[in-house]
Amino acid sequence: MVARPAVKNDLFLRACRRERLDRPPIWIMRQAGRYMPEYQEIRKKTSFLGLCKTPELATQATLLPIDLLGLDAAILFSDILIPVEAMGLSLEFTEHKGPKFLNPVRTDADIERLAVPDARKDTGFVGDAVRLINTRLDGRVPLLGFSGAPFTLATYMVEGETSKEFTKVKRLIFSNPRGYRALMEKVTRTVIDYLEMQVEAGIHAYQLFDTWAGSLCAEHYREYALPYTREVVRALARHGIPSILYINGTAALLDLMDQAGTDVLSIDWRLPLDKAIPRISPEKAVQGNLDPVVLLTTEEALAGEVRRVLAGVGDRPGYIFNLGHGILPETPMAMARSLVRMVQNGL
Ligand code: CP3
Repeated sequence: MVARPAVKNDLFLRACRRERLDRPPIWIMRQAGRYMPEYQEIRKKTSFLGLCKTPELATQATLLPIDLLGLDAAILFSDILIPVEAMGLSLEFTEHKGPKFLNPVRTDADIERLAVPDARKDTGFVGDAVRLINTRLDGRVPLLGFSGAPFTLATYMVEGETSKEFTKVKRLIFSNPRGYRALMEKVTRTVIDYLEMQVEAGIHAYQLFDTWAGSLCAEHYREYALPYTREVVRALARHGIPSILYINGTAALLDLMDQAGTDVLSIDWRLPLDKAIPRISPEKAVQGNLDPVVLLTTEEALAGEVRRVLAGVGDRPGYIFNLGHGILPETPMAMARSLVRMVQNGL
């Protein structure tokens, strides 16, 4: 049985179900991160991967933004690349440069060698973290789990690091479509098992990060990324928990994103919500889409932009306030606090 605790503040879950609310719930992508001095303190104790793999520390990091900012949802502290490491790729996080795979996937033999891990055995620390977080949250707010969407995970596996042009993964798609399909099938099975484990451990909802899908044109997204995302969403549907799809580069893909089957679409900052919403099915909830850079400016500018985002939503039910991408490490805590106050107490 799934031990999913009941929550006192259920605004986030009600927004996912498109209930009419007095105010929108707010959480922030990358809400536990380097912009918080308290995160830096926890981080000093170990490496980033060490932090992800130590349930006690991952729990402390997850709870920081709930305790310090009073957000309406918690998100598991981890990284999208954790299950990929378990597929057999050696992962390093270098200061300032981000993730790096030492043995990226380039050939059919590389693809064949990849394991489909047993999530409970090979990434059991994530399930342990989910259980410990729920114990410490004690039902204050819901807990989001997450995974990278298959395409974004494949970009890291093939490129070996964060990329600008995505030449290597696109070359694989176009010159070895069979190999690409074999890779995506393994990644998709890995993602499904990884999310199933999180559901069993007690998450209340999950978000799929397809951060780099915006590097594809709509036709290629339809053919090479969307089917795998749909497969994940379809497999998880039996659990009945809300699902969110995030893409960075929403504008060209929104109509197809709508077909992925998630309950919520998370919109980046480039497309104003009054332009996005008419392209979204009425039964779907919407999340986003403040430009994270606004948090580096002034209270006045922030208030103006929060007002603009909320005006774009109008009185459509089913809206979750968030940024259009992760909060930047340079963000002052005071500005994050102001944002939460503006959304929760009004402007
Ligand atoms: O939202 C949250 O607070 C939960 C934790 C979370 C992290 N990464 C923590 C993290 C989540 C949901 C992610 C997802 C993730 N990881 C994505 C998709 C979302 C997005 O931002 O587009 C991607 C592409 C990654 C891969 C990744 N991890 C990169 C590119 C980097 C380096 C960039 C950077 O900001 O340093 C990371 C590292 C990372 N993931 C940090 C954190 C808090 C910083 C690590 C540190 O403490 O040094």
